[in-house]
This record gives sequence, C-alpha cells and structure tokens, in this order.
Amino acid sequence: MSDAAITVEEARKTYRGGSGGPALDGLDLTVARGTVHGVLGPNGAGKTTLVRILATLLRPDAGRIEVAGHDVVREAYAVRLRIGLLGQHAALDEELGGRQNLELFGRLHHLGARRARARAGELLERFELSGTGHKAVKQYSGGMRRRLDLAASLITEPEVLFLDEPTTGLDPRGRAEVWESVRSLVGGGTTVLLTTQYLEEADQLADRISLVDAGRVVADGTADELKAAIGGDRIDVVLRDAGQLGTAVALLPVPKDAITVDTDRRLLSAPVTDRMAALAGVVRALEEAGVEAEDIALRRPTLDEVFLRLTGHDDRAKEAA
Ligand SMILES: Nc1ncnc2c1ncn2[C@@H]1O[C@H](COP(=O)(O)OP(=O)(O)OP(=O)(O)O)[C@@H](O)[C@H]1O
Ligand SMILES: [Mg+2]
Repeated sequence: MSDAAITVEEARKTYRGGSGGPALDGLDLTVARGTVHGVLGPNGAGKTTLVRILATLLRPDAGRIEVAGHDVVREAYAVRLRIGLLGQHAALDEELGGRQNLELFGRLHHLGARRARARAGELLERFELSGTGHKAVKQYSGGMRRRLDLAASLITEPEVLFLDEPTTGLDPRGRAEVWESVRSLVGGGTTVLLTTQYLEEADQLADRISLVDAGRVVADGTADELKAAIGGDRIDVVLRDAGQLGTAVALLPVPKDAITVDTDRRLLSAPVTDRMAALAGVVRALEEAGVEAEDIALRRPTLDEVFLRLTGHDDRAKEAA
C-alpha cells in the first residue's frame, strides 16, 4: 500500500460555460499520510476546483486522482467514506446551537442518535466549545464558527481532511484559534490538505507546500526549500535618512536590479551569498560613506518573495503580508 494519502497526476478541468482557460491545467500533487499539505495560491488559481475534485463533488476531465487509496471517479463512494471537508463557505444552521448543529451533522452521516450525541460532545470539548454549545451559532464569533465548522467536518473521523481557506475573513485572533485546532488534529494521524492565500498560514501549518498558479503547481517543497529556491539569504538595511537610499544602493556589491527599495520604510533589501562577509562588508561600506543605518539584519527570504519570484505577480503576496 502506498504511503500517499493523496495522489494527483496531471489533473485537468475546464468548466463548461466558464470564461475560457482551464481551472486545472495538468496539476500534480502527492501528500504523505499523516502530514499537512498546503496548497497556496492567489484568487482563481484553482484551489477550490482541486478540493472539489478530491472530495468527489466535481469530476475531473483527465488525470489519475486517488484519495485514501481509492480513485475519486471510479470509487467515489469509498472516497466519501474516508474524507471530511471544510468548504470555503460555512454549512452551519445559524438558528441552531453549536451542539445541535453537530448532532444534526452526525445524524445526516447516519450515526445513531446516541452516537451522534456522544460525538458532538467529544468534538465540542476538543475544540473548546463546550461552554457555548447551547448558544445559537449566529451569536458565535468568526473564530468560534470556523472551529465549529471544523468539528462538523470531523464527525465521521475522516482519514483525510480538506480545508478550503479555513481562516479567510477571520481576525488574527480567530486565525490563531483555528491554527491551534488544525495542529491538534494532526497529532491524531489525520492527513490534511489545506488551501490558503496566506503565505504565513502555509508556513505555520504545512509540512509541505505546493505553490499553485493558473491551475498548475509552479513550485513545491517545505517552506524552507521554497525560500532557498529563490536564492538564499537576504540582507535588510534600514537607514536613518531615506535621502541616502540611492547612495546606499550604489555601495552594495550586488547587481542593482536584485535590490528592492521601500522609501516609506527607509529600507533596502538585497540578496547575499556569504552571510557574514556580506554583513561585515555592508557595515563597513556604509560607515565609510557616512550613511547611517538604523538597523541591519540578515534573513531568509519570505514566502511572499518566493511567490513573486515564481509567478511574476505579487497581488496576493501584498495583501497577505
Ligand atoms: N462553477 C464554475 N463555472 C465556471 N468557472 C469556474 C467555476 N468555478 C471556478 N471557475 C473558474 O475556475 C478558475 C479556478 O477557480 P477556483 O475557484 O478553483 O479558484 P480558487 O483558487 O479557489 O480561488 P479563490 O481563492 O478565489 O477561492 C477561475 O478562473 C474561476 O473563475
Ligand atoms: Mg477557492
């Protein structure tokens, strides 16, 4: 038996009546059992299309796609028994309480009344919602709702869980709560495929990340590998006087088109190959030229920079920063 919980080879999908191009254009992906895999991409990249195909809600035009050892087209029913799905839009009944919602979900999934009640209780506890289980969902905060959504997607104890943008629209606190819940899941052996537009979210939660753009994977690896792929470390220099940015850029011994300048933050950023030599060299060069630096730091590239470099556009990266 394969170690992969999810295998996607050359997945293709074009919506009929859609605006033209394919939503999935030969997408490849492998997710090992018991890991969290992040699918990171901008609006329209094909993330939801991929999740809907994996969850057997949509048929691919072509490709070999297996979830939990079963083909999503030929063995859709077997796949359905083994998966949970947290969609991009919540599926809760606003008027019902959290506990009632979970029990209802359990009954819809053919758990007996007693089993559904027990499972609802377990999940409320696990997601720290026991105290508010009686409250109507419309009174819940965004983070609580999303945790309840997550609980509902786990009613059937799925082997593989799909989370489609689980924290989009949440404030930082709600996001942190959901992250905590996702982390606690993985300890239990569940395989998670998570889509997100937030670079930080993929960085925080995912063991591996596939960067998706226009229906294809443009890069994949661990967050560190992706960052390394765009050429190692960077040096950031914040000057006391923005007027000296031009002088500082001229001093740096790297190709000028590799340097980015942010005038508002009095910041310039450049790639380096040898960390310590670069640091010493930059400090000395600035001093000799009388350019006063407020802060100098070496750092790994951010996923924003990886994304910009690999896709050639950074609309999403800016928003997510
Ligand atoms: N039901 C549909 N009919 C026609 N075209 C669609 C349909 N659903 C999605 N598309 C198109 O397919 C492409 C991929 O969309 P998809 O929803 O998979 O992207 P996404 O990565 O989930 O985006 P978002 O981050 O906005 O949720 C887009 O060009 C979209 O306009
Ligand atoms: Mg989507």
